[in-house]
Amino acid sequence: MTRLGILLSGRGSNFEAIADHVAAGDLEAEIAVVISNRSEAPGLEAARRRGLPAVAIPSKGLDREVYDRMAIEELRRCGVGLVCLAGFMRLLSATFVRAFPNRILNIHPSLLPSFPGLDAQHQALEHGVRVSGCTVHFVDEYLDAGPILAQAPVPVLDTDTVETLAARILKEEHRIYSEALRIVIGGNYRIEGRRVILG
Ligand code: GRF
Repeated sequence: MTRLGILLSGRGSNFEAIADHVAAGDLEAEIAVVISNRSEAPGLEAARRRGLPAVAIPSKGLDREVYDRMAIEELRRCGVGLVCLAGFMRLLSATFVRAFPNRILNIHPSLLPSFPGLDAQHQALEHGVRVSGCTVHFVDEYLDAGPILAQAPVPVLDTDTVETLAARILKEEHRIYSEALRIVIGGNYRIEGRRVILG
């Protein structure tokens, strides 16, 4: 059984969607630990409510490398085999990425490589694209950059605000994160350069 480690900084709705799939038995995984760099993150509270191990490792004032070593230690202690970033608002160091090679996933609310970084939904509206969406990708040491596992398009409507667009994208995020997890857990894929080849 794959042991998942979830890293989050805020609301935690992607974590909750994954936890729902795990609880329903349609993901061959268990959530070994939920870690947040913000002790007040609602996602941590949600994890506790579900009876899952929830650990705050505050990042404030800590050097990236020092922080990442603490997180790696906790993930190892919990026997984590696959790390899911779910609204984790920090860039990972090379040390972290090398500790879990091709075993770290992230979800981003745009069709990468468009609109990496913060406020992706705002960026999409500002740019005037007709279609945005979301992406699940493997994590490397660059921002929103690793090989892509899954994407879903979401139309941008003339009436959209950042909030309405974000809400429509979020629905798809909740769907494709578990789809991507199923692929990685099943192991029926290979990575060739930037491409993830299925089957
Ligand atoms: C999501 O939009 C995700 O794509 C981005 O941060 C947001 C996290 O939302 N990386 P939540 O905490 O999972 O609700």
